[in-house]
Amino acid sequence: METALITGASTGIGKELARIIAEKGTNLVLVARSLEKLENLKIELEAKNKVSVFTIALDLSEANAGLEVYEQVVQLGLEVTYLINNAGVGLYGEFYATDWERENTMINLNITSLTQLTKLFLKGMMERNRGRIMNVASTAAFQPGPLMSVYFASKAYVLHFSEAIGYELRDTGITVTTLCPGPTISEFKDTASMGESRLFKQKGIPSSAAVAEYGYKSMMKGKSVAIHGWKNRLLASSTGFAPRRLVLAIADRIQGRSK
Ligand SMILES: NC(=O)c1ccc[n+]([C@@H]2O[C@H](COP(=O)([O-])OP(=O)(O)OC[C@H]3O[C@@H](n4cnc5c(N)ncnc54)[C@H](OP(=O)(O)O)[C@@H]3O)[C@@H](O)[C@H]2O)c1
Repeated sequence: METALITGASTGIGKELARIIAEKGTNLVLVARSLEKLENLKIELEAKNKVSVFTIALDLSEANAGLEVYEQVVQLGLEVTYLINNAGVGLYGEFYATDWERENTMINLNITSLTQLTKLFLKGMMERNRGRIMNVASTAAFQPGPLMSVYFASKAYVLHFSEAIGYELRDTGITVTTLCPGPTISEFKDTASMGESRLFKQKGIPSSAAVAEYGYKSMMKGKSVAIHGWKNRLLASSTGFAPRRLVLAIADRIQGRSK
């Protein structure tokens, strides 16, 4: 039976992806730090669907956390068909003033553990010549982001890394999708300390469920880059030809503190 591993499955987009995938009858491995939230989700998903759900409560920003997850999955005797690297955090503020510990955690989570998990699970997928990987980046991946400089740069890494390995794998049975959400309703805004930002004050911000549905469909189609929402797609494509200075000014304006 197929198994999907989702990081950051305790809330937001990851939790909704778990709900969608369980409905398809696919077993799940749910990873995040909050054991209680994961266990509650496991109970919900197993009650509603004919699936087995396994939980791994772990801080993915710790060194070699990806290896720890991989070893636990091997011990469970599971073969991961779908790897969804969704866990990620942001941090708002001028770089000179932000906290290094939080930035270091962000880099370890958004970049290092995502890369290690991809490397480890890709091996088995290569042997079976079958699998789908979805890495969650952001519309932040398409330009530098004043006031969230490290976060934007981390998501540019996720996009470029995922596109590159997707290309390497083009003649295999494995696809790599980068999901790029714009602002989405979840815990993200609060954990990133974005209370003052204009970004989340706009109308029509989509739910995590809507973004997850779009992400799931894009992954199943094997789409390389999946940007959620037409406005986000327009903005992302415009950064390619607009002058860098203008791109920075627009990003600053969108991200800026609301009066
Ligand atoms: N919401 C947005 O506006 C938005 C926009 C663009 C991209 N994204 C991206 O979408 C992804 C999902 O975010 P979301 O919006 O669903 O936010 P969220 O509700 O805050 O979910 C983040 C998930 O990551 C987990 N997580 C955080 N730190 C972790 C750590 N050190 N180790 C393991 N798990 C950790 C959290 O669980 P625990 O706290 O239980 O560990 C949670 O399950 C992220 O990669 C984010 O960058 C979000």
